[in-house]
Amino acid sequence: MGMEVIATCAEMAAFCRRARRPLGLAPTMGALHRGHLSLARRARADNATMTASIFVNPAQFGPGEDFARYPRAFEQDLERLAGAGADAVFAPPAAEIYPAGFDTWIEPGAVAEGMEGAVRPGHFRGVATVVAKLFAVARPDCAYFGQKDGQQLAVIRKLNADLNLGVNIIAMPTIREADGLALSSRNAYLTPAQRAAAAVIYRALGAGRARWQQGARDAEEVRAAAAATLGAEPMLEAVDYISIVDAETMAPAAKLPAPAAGSADGVDAVDAVNAIDAANDAGGGRPVMLAVAARLGGVRLIDNVILG
Ligand code: PAF
Repeated sequence: MGMEVIATCAEMAAFCRRARRPLGLAPTMGALHRGHLSLARRARADNATMTASIFVNPAQFGPGEDFARYPRAFEQDLERLAGAGADAVFAPPAAEIYPAGFDTWIEPGAVAEGMEGAVRPGHFRGVATVVAKLFAVARPDCAYFGQKDGQQLAVIRKLNADLNLGVNIIAMPTIREADGLALSSRNAYLTPAQRAAAAVIYRALGAGRARWQQGARDAEEVRAAAAATLGAEPMLEAVDYISIVDAETMAPAAKLPAPAAGSADGVDAVDAVNAIDAANDAGGGRPVMLAVAARLGGVRLIDNVILG
């Protein structure tokens, strides 16, 4: 049977009710790149039914942000999702998600306050609300999110736990270009010169990580190593933040855990995030996230690595 493209909540809910379980959902805003497709492929491999959503969610963009010019590539996205083996793609118009009179919002707490939450007020309220709606419509068993948006992932895990949504949230590693730049739909906004300069973000994360691997356990020391690397790139207009936070709560961390035995490469150590409950049980050092947001040619780029 071919892939179904569904535009209404009622039809998506009916499809998912009838579908073989387990059902996986890969929520996206379209303009799909290899990062999104890694979520889709994992969802395909893990589940009897694989679904994805494409919805550029107006509620998570602030005034003056890039909602209107956010890249849209619907036909190509459908082809790619079909290639990844999707059974259904939910692609609703905005009025389907936010009909006239819609007036109930989910306001995440402390996990959403710092970093992206501080720079983009209301962003996580929009993310949490749309993700809760997608979960309510599809009732997925598993949902897949990229570690690149590490704070978003933490907000969604907390939403899922606090509201007993019962979805198995799976973090997927950040997919990178050869020079380390994390794949993002927003990379398309960069000129070739800006694109080349953007690799400094991953180099900065690598510099922080190297300091940690060399034995630094003081967050300030690791942060300074990342800051020095960013500071050496003249094309960077501004650094919104370089933060070291608990990978689950997003609370600032002053101290870093020791690298786990055998984990020579802590970068994209997404397993540490997926296994965070085990870290709690074991009473071991909790993983931290070193996160950067910087602006280049008016484009905001974010990235992070997990240390722990
Ligand atoms: O990460 C994204 O693409 C979006 O924030 C999400 C999770 C699909 C919600 O709109």
